[in-house]
Amino acid sequence: MTNSDWTASTSPQQQNLRALAEKTLINNDLGGYTVPTHGLYPFQWNWDSAITALGWMQFDEQRAWQELEILFSGQWPDGMVPHILFHKDSDSYFPGPVVWGADKPIKSTSISQPPVVGSVMKIMLEQAKDPHFAREKATTLFNKLVDYHLWWYQQRDPEETGLVVTYHPWESGMDNSPAWDDALQAVPCVTWSYERRDTKHVDSAQRPHKSEYDRFLYLVDFFKQHQFDSKRIFAQCPYKMNDIGIIAILHRASKDLLIMSEMLQMQDERTEYIAKRMEVTQQAISALWCEKDHYFYSRNVLTNQLVAVKTSAGLLSLYAGFASATQKTSLNKTSIEWLQASQFSLASTHPSASCYEPQRYWRGPIWLHINWMIALGLEESGYQDTAKSIQNDSRELIKLAGFYEYFNPETGAGCGGKDFSWTAAIAMHWLL
Ligand code: DGY
Repeated sequence: MTNSDWTASTSPQQQNLRALAEKTLINNDLGGYTVPTHGLYPFQWNWDSAITALGWMQFDEQRAWQELEILFSGQWPDGMVPHILFHKDSDSYFPGPVVWGADKPIKSTSISQPPVVGSVMKIMLEQAKDPHFAREKATTLFNKLVDYHLWWYQQRDPEETGLVVTYHPWESGMDNSPAWDDALQAVPCVTWSYERRDTKHVDSAQRPHKSEYDRFLYLVDFFKQHQFDSKRIFAQCPYKMNDIGIIAILHRASKDLLIMSEMLQMQDERTEYIAKRMEVTQQAISALWCEKDHYFYSRNVLTNQLVAVKTSAGLLSLYAGFASATQKTSLNKTSIEWLQASQFSLASTHPSASCYEPQRYWRGPIWLHINWMIALGLEESGYQDTAKSIQNDSRELIKLAGFYEYFNPETGAGCGGKDFSWTAAIAMHWLL
């Protein structure tokens, strides 16, 4: 089938996939919020949920806004929106709320996740078929969104360097990225024993190793022992990262928040403050640019070293709008070369890197919501052809394998959880 056949809205394969995508979200709905997939991830995850709202938006606008309302119902008094909300008990996941130990009305973890929700809200406001309803919902959620962004700037960059810090690989959303390896090595291991549940649902070859889980859990304990106190954690956390992925997603979402503040006529001193903090970030971002490799990297704050591993997070700099004209040219060249390095694209770690593993969680597989953000950044930077190639590959993957959590760049095989909400949602929003 040629691409033009595919884009014809009457294509039966397209209609089938679209129906399956809707069914995937409906099956993953637990009554107002959507689990990423049953079993492996049985709760509401922050950035999964935001991306999933884009899918609901295609066929049920009320349900899409409800997804965000329930996400913000778990917001902490300091503005943080947790990475997981444990609305209902489930024993199919570890570590659950008792291990996290955060005593909140809605049980949750004590870290956040990439704040893509502001960008999603703007898209929902712009694309609404019922603009009156969308405006009403966005107006109600807007101040909570502002609180969330203020939390990032004030609690995660209290010294106003321009670059927020993250305290856990799970906070990055790119949990097992090789970019975190060295920093994680410096974190002690837990000494208590535990039983993982993830490897009961998914082949362990596609999941993190025990040595990583031991450290993930040490950090969970660390936050609890420090009573979730932002100041103490900022001063003492053994893992502190300037994650280029989060910094880029936050910057883009802050831009979108400011646009929404105009649309909703809700500008005030708080939105002005966010605009000022964005200027500081734009100035500071050059610290993450490696002139030798022509690439944006994350930085280990504790060693002050850039992490010179090419992961797809660096390409989100285009989505954020950080890159200068020359940086954009380099990043487009890099993307083209990256696309040619594997059968399907875009591998989350560059296939030439020694740490590349095509089917292990975040160490090589393709993630369609990241492809969407990278393609959007490329398109907005004037590189339509590169963006189209990424979109075509993404479409091929769902045609081949369906709505998996992630995909093997060498074979196109689906990996991780199946019937995955954000893959189905991105398919509806971007591919079908
Ligand atoms: C997991 O448990 O792997 C989750 O991705 C953490 O967010």
